[in-house]
Amino acid sequence: MEEKIKALREQMAGEIAQIAGKEDLAAFWQKHLSKNGSIADLMKGLRDVAKEDRPAVGKVINQFKVQVEEQYQQLRETVEAKELEKRNKSEQVDITMPAKRRESGALHPITLIKQEIVDIFAGMGFEVFEGPEIEDDDHNFTRLNIPKNHPARDMQDTFYVGEDIILRTQTSGGQIRVMDMKKPPIKVLVPGRVFRSDYDATHSPMFHQMEGLVVDKNITLCDLQGMLEKFAQQIFDGDVKTRLRPSYFPFTEPSVEVDVSCFKCGGKGCPLCKHTGWIEVLGAGVVHHSVLENCGIDPQVYSGFAFGIGIERIAMLKYGINNMGLLFENDLRFLNQFKGAN
Ligand code: DAH
Repeated sequence: MEEKIKALREQMAGEIAQIAGKEDLAAFWQKHLSKNGSIADLMKGLRDVAKEDRPAVGKVINQFKVQVEEQYQQLRETVEAKELEKRNKSEQVDITMPAKRRESGALHPITLIKQEIVDIFAGMGFEVFEGPEIEDDDHNFTRLNIPKNHPARDMQDTFYVGEDIILRTQTSGGQIRVMDMKKPPIKVLVPGRVFRSDYDATHSPMFHQMEGLVVDKNITLCDLQGMLEKFAQQIFDGDVKTRLRPSYFPFTEPSVEVDVSCFKCGGKGCPLCKHTGWIEVLGAGVVHHSVLENCGIDPQVYSGFAFGIGIERIAMLKYGINNMGLLFENDLRFLNQFKGAN
């Protein structure tokens, strides 16, 4: 038995020297330490040993087994440590490598201005409502006091989708939708895309408007002027003044055009204000009594004002853009200039 153990020990030493990885280690365990391994075989061999010698021989085999197990354990730790080191090396991050550039986007100038306008009016208690882009003739025209064959329809070249169904030419139809849903007090903004068959350096067949509507008791033109002056001062970041010029819109009476004193030259006259000192920024007026009546609101009790802001116009004025096309071409050299502008 002693001989057998000695031979096995030598054999194992040779095998251990060859162990390079996990698989070799597992094979070694299978061959020697498993239930059918060489050490278990030695135990089985005890049967052939004389009865009186068995305890002593059994003890020797057991000691041998413990030694081999310890050796195996050590070997396992070494092999695992080596493999871990190998893995760590292969997964190491080279911090000297140049990083991949991550391009971040920018908000479109139209979005920037839209958000800015909403922020300003939200500060005065306005809510935001959005109406449909495909609109019916009733909301876009008739109930806004522009009946069929009214000459004011010629002010806006309309795209027809079907009979009495159009691409909305103005966000003013949102006023009707809001007043159908809600009774005064009303204070809403209606932002959105609008469409007209019109195309040159300052017009595009699709553009954006922001409608405003206030209806309550005792609302007058003075409220309109005060609110819009506050708006102009905030959006143009300055000490601008406003003035109202008489105008005509079928859904307001009186109707006005709101001008701001030129924020570029301070009113002295420059190319931006065409040397007038004033810049036209929006249309507005006191809501026509017929429009209130069309929505079931009693004009003897309530009054209101409305305004319509051209978002592209504000963006062009504020950012010094001279061609509206730039806002829709999506040229990155143009758009990248608005990074970080919000
Ligand atoms: N809807 C008008 C337009 O597209 C703008 C406008 C003018 C809206 C006066 C209003 C308003 O609400 O009161 O030209």
